[in-house]
Amino acid sequence: MEVRTGLGWDTHRLGWGAELILGGVRIPSDRGQLGHSDADVLSHAITDALLGAAALGDIGMLFPDTDPKWKGADSAVFLKEAVRRVLAAGYTISNVDSTVILEKPKLKDFRLKIRETLAATIGIELDRVSVKFKTAEQVGPVGELRASEAEADRKSTRLNSSH
Ligand code: C5P
Ligand code: MG
Repeated sequence: MEVRTGLGWDTHRLGWGAELILGGVRIPSDRGQLGHSDADVLSHAITDALLGAAALGDIGMLFPDTDPKWKGADSAVFLKEAVRRVLAAGYTISNVDSTVILEKPKLKDFRLKIRETLAATIGIELDRVSVKFKTAEQVGPVGELRASEAEADRKSTRLNSSH
């Protein structure tokens, strides 16, 4: 059995009046994330972690942000396509761990909902999905409420490495 890990990272600018969507969950907030798609920084980091473990490229290769087709896109579509490719390459997804770095609002009350939504999108059990939250201690672009950031780590296993 072959065990692999993948890493993902993403950042988005924050702006007044934009929606704040994390892991597919809409969070009430005066500021939201700006981007070509729905700017779901957490889903984007996890998508890259999934692709990374299987060496299948990155989110921008699959869904270029220059393509009008992906304007305002639901990032669950990106995540699902990454899952499809990873499974097609013969891997199973063992777990996903992640961290969102956002100064405000407090996210911990949304943890379960975000985990449930991600688990359903990825198609794995709830106890295989971890989402953590940090502030940036008021320092740098994230700490000054100008950006959000997310990191993700994912473990995958492939039963037959000659697949
Ligand atoms: O960044 P800091 O270590 O101060 O965060 C403390 C805790 O606050 C985190 O462990 C997390 O549970 C919570 N938190 C949160 N929403 C954020 C940032 C942090 O719920 N946006
Ligand atoms: Mg992104």
